[in-house]
Amino acid sequence: MERTLVLIKPDGVQRGLIGEIIARFERRGLRIAGLKLMQITPELAARHYGIHQGKPFYEGLIRFITSGPVVAMVLEGDKAIQIVRTTMGGVESATDPAKAPPGSIRADFGMSIGRNLVHGSDSADTAAFEVPLFFRPEELLSYERDIDRWIFE
Ligand code: RTP
Ligand code: MG
Repeated sequence: MERTLVLIKPDGVQRGLIGEIIARFERRGLRIAGLKLMQITPELAARHYGIHQGKPFYEGLIRFITSGPVVAMVLEGDKAIQIVRTTMGGVESATDPAKAPPGSIRADFGMSIGRNLVHGSDSADTAAFEVPLFFRPEELLSYERDIDRWIFE
């Protein structure tokens, strides 16, 4: 079973879309292993988005992601990383809502690349790095749902 880090970014929280966004992941079948409302510090933001340091959008990205509360989640399921990324931005996992296909979160709720509502780990290595940045081991629960056998093959 794969685990991935998902963030509802400050724009999603401010716009009252927490429920809508979580509902899309939930109804897809993903299981919630961890969930919390938190404010990302500049230090955590720099670690999480360290790979983008030096890029022209970096400073704005750090300002934005630390600008208000986010919802952090760990979601799990078979191919959870890919399933989350396609739910966010279609099969090509578009970063820019203008390029995301209708039906994806970024297309249905967003317009601007810097206000794209959600983050999801983009690979197994990234997930392994990001999950412990946001959650202590005891904050993540392992459990089964009665419905799992109707979702996980
Ligand atoms: P995320 O990490 O937030 O899930 O987004 P992503 O994988 O789809 O995109 P990534 O390349 O990791 O970029 C991280 C965030 O930086 C902003 N960005 N702006 N102006 C630009 O060209 C640009 N490129 C990236 C986006 O807000 C993106 O989510
Ligand atoms: Mg990324």
